[in-house]
Amino acid sequence: MDSFTDDAEFITCDSPVNIALIKYWGKRDEKLILPLNSSISVTLSQDELRARTTVAVSRNFKEDKMWLNGREQSMKNARLQSVISNIKRLCRKRKSDNDQVNDKLQWKLHICSENNFPTAAGLASSAAGYACLVYALSKLYGVDGDLSKIARMGSGSACRSIYGGFVIWNKGEAEGGEDSKAEQIVSETHWPDLRVLILVVSDQTKHTGSTVGMQTSVETSQLLQQRLQGVPKQLEKIKCAIQNKDFHSFAEITMRDSNQLHAVCMDTYPPVSYLTDISHHIIQLVHAINQDNNSNMVAYSFDAGPNAFLFLQEKDVPTVIDILHYFYPSSDPNFIRGLQVPAKRDVHVDYTVFSDLKVIPRALKFIIHTQPGPGPTVKDSDCGLLTKDGFPLNLNNANGKI
Ligand code: DP6
Repeated sequence: MDSFTDDAEFITCDSPVNIALIKYWGKRDEKLILPLNSSISVTLSQDELRARTTVAVSRNFKEDKMWLNGREQSMKNARLQSVISNIKRLCRKRKSDNDQVNDKLQWKLHICSENNFPTAAGLASSAAGYACLVYALSKLYGVDGDLSKIARMGSGSACRSIYGGFVIWNKGEAEGGEDSKAEQIVSETHWPDLRVLILVVSDQTKHTGSTVGMQTSVETSQLLQQRLQGVPKQLEKIKCAIQNKDFHSFAEITMRDSNQLHAVCMDTYPPVSYLTDISHHIIQLVHAINQDNNSNMVAYSFDAGPNAFLFLQEKDVPTVIDILHYFYPSSDPNFIRGLQVPAKRDVHVDYTVFSDLKVIPRALKFIIHTQPGPGPTVKDSDCGLLTKDGFPLNLNNANGKI
């Protein structure tokens, strides 16, 4: 085999996960991935959850190849192809007189991507994965400008992972999707004491994927049509709560939107159900905590799966962790991962107020303690996932799908 090092070029990038507060659910165009409603999300820190992607081109590569979490993937994925061809088109448009770039565009591409969290945890990774791929390709081909529109073609929610902090994906009006793109509302430093606890539930049921789930909702749910009329007002309200760091309102809008998404799922025919008994137990517990506190201390949000994303303020983390430990006891010394839990103030939780709720041992696999974070970044070459010959350094990880 020839040495590839002379011509090969490598770029490695990291990209974050985002969690929607006002959910995207339903498309008006399946191919271009244009949503029926705008959505708002918060991007999470990459210290706890991130996708990492190395992309490489070389005149010596024989064919385009891709590996995800150590497993080779087919390149015949329409969304993957759409992302690659759109980045290349943007590059051609801007650099048509540069021979070196034109060469690179002809060369075959190797892509290797990994998540720093277990695929089995059921945490959506496609948003971080596609945002990372688009960002890395843009650096490889020297493309700048709006990348969120291209990430959107991989997976709708991926367009929001192109930015850090709080992000809105404006649904846009144009038929071709030119104005359907993400935009930062405020950066990750805006609300420094906001924290997120991700409750990874033990029984990860096999559930309908979000693409199919939302498509069936569009076809069959009348409640979805009603939801669409109310979303613009909710977007304005949550933007205001974020700007003012008004946790009480932020929490209520977030919980109501999550509940509405899952009501739409139940109104879908046949119904789609993502929440398990444990998810419902978490919902009851959060409302009991808030009621006891006379104001919202915690908010939950659920995507197309049973895991809960809890939002709270740093000062309340020790109390809420105490309560979670009480209701979902675990002997795992690594039960709480991520950010350190701040030292306990002198709070005493009166568990008699929660007497309606059962204690459920081992209900949760683990909890990830994290916070809002920045958008994608370029990494040093020593973080790369490909050898100098363009093949994965690590081929024995768990499998996964982008
Ligand atoms: C419930 O972005 O995964 O997480 O565009 O078909 O790839 P596709 O769907 P996807 O849907 C995400 C749905 C959601 C809500 C959200 O993130 O806004």
